[in-house]
Amino acid sequence: MRTQVGIIGAGPAGLLLSRLLALQGIDSVVLENRSRDYVEARIRAGILEQHTVDTLTEAGVGDRLAREGLEHRGIYLQYPGTRHKLDFPELCGRTVWVYGQTEVTKDLIKAQLDGGPPLLFEVSDVRPEDVDTDSPRIRFTDADGNPQVLECDVVAGTDGFHGVSRPVVQQAAGGQVWERTYPYAWLGILADAAPATDELIYAWHPDGFALYSMRSTKVSRLYLQVDPSEKIEDWSDDRIWDNLATRFALEGWDLNTGPVTEKSILPMRSFVSAPMRRGRLFLAGDAAHIVPPTGAKGLNLAVADVTLLASALVRLLAEKQTDLVDSYSERALARVWRCTHFSWFMTSMLHRAGDDFDAQLQLSQLRRVVSSEAAARELAENYTGLPLDY
Ligand code: PHB
Repeated sequence: MRTQVGIIGAGPAGLLLSRLLALQGIDSVVLENRSRDYVEARIRAGILEQHTVDTLTEAGVGDRLAREGLEHRGIYLQYPGTRHKLDFPELCGRTVWVYGQTEVTKDLIKAQLDGGPPLLFEVSDVRPEDVDTDSPRIRFTDADGNPQVLECDVVAGTDGFHGVSRPVVQQAAGGQVWERTYPYAWLGILADAAPATDELIYAWHPDGFALYSMRSTKVSRLYLQVDPSEKIEDWSDDRIWDNLATRFALEGWDLNTGPVTEKSILPMRSFVSAPMRRGRLFLAGDAAHIVPPTGAKGLNLAVADVTLLASALVRLLAEKQTDLVDSYSERALARVWRCTHFSWFMTSMLHRAGDDFDAQLQLSQLRRVVSSEAAARELAENYTGLPLDY
């Protein structure tokens, strides 16, 4: 087999890259080690920045998003006694959309299988080779157990945090990683309950952070800060709802409860790997970086990486110019670090850790954000998304 761009990983990053390249006449093959069912069932975050919505729409996969996505004009920041709305259009002229990453992935898979470039599920033993030459290849075993070789001009590593691509980049001289593991986790639930709020609520509480999000007008997505050592079996639905009610409590307001359809505990970490390129192997999305979910940046960063990478690869493969691939890693990482900082800022401001001195600093920061237009605008600009080539 031969293609121009061999793409490892069929998450939103790899699928969108394949699609953006196809629209510019560049062919690709996408390899995925999981099954389609598995990929389409993974529950992930659900906030899309305006540039993400625009990119998906321009790529021809925005129809269902336009029909079913919910446009949001702000968020609430809460601490005991106060629930304050930050109005994004007023602060920075932009909005965000609630539309699950799972739905984005389904839309991209559907488009791909409907006449798009090849997408192979359930492959194994995937290995990028000879990435320091102009003719790299990917070895893998297909779903029927046959060994295969995919010869390429370029390999894209969009295979997530646990993928095979990042170690290959890191094995070269000059690789560096930065990591922060936060001393808390999120317990997340999906519930068949109409959201009792028009906008997402980010709540600071002495018992720990809570987030009220949603997937539709009938489905709520809620999170509680818990200790990373907590076991999901110890959290009955009643215990979860009681904790949510305490942390979101506000005079004259009530939570809507309903059947819990999914619950899990998610670790919180920041991770950045540099560079995002080795020779003809380019990393994008979670393969190169992880942000804690508090700033809702993970998917949006992946889309930004892929947008930069697609134009750089078109320039390399169609115009034989290396300038954009040569600057890709540096341009992508500038934005990665900005989002890493913002995610760390939101996480640090809202989660209980440390002592009462830390808690007073957090409350002071929250009061600052809700009372200063400059501080609120800084948060709003970052939350709704900074320009692509940051
Ligand atoms: C979600 O809906 O899953 C969600 C929303 C906002 C966040 C994180 C997760 O900051």
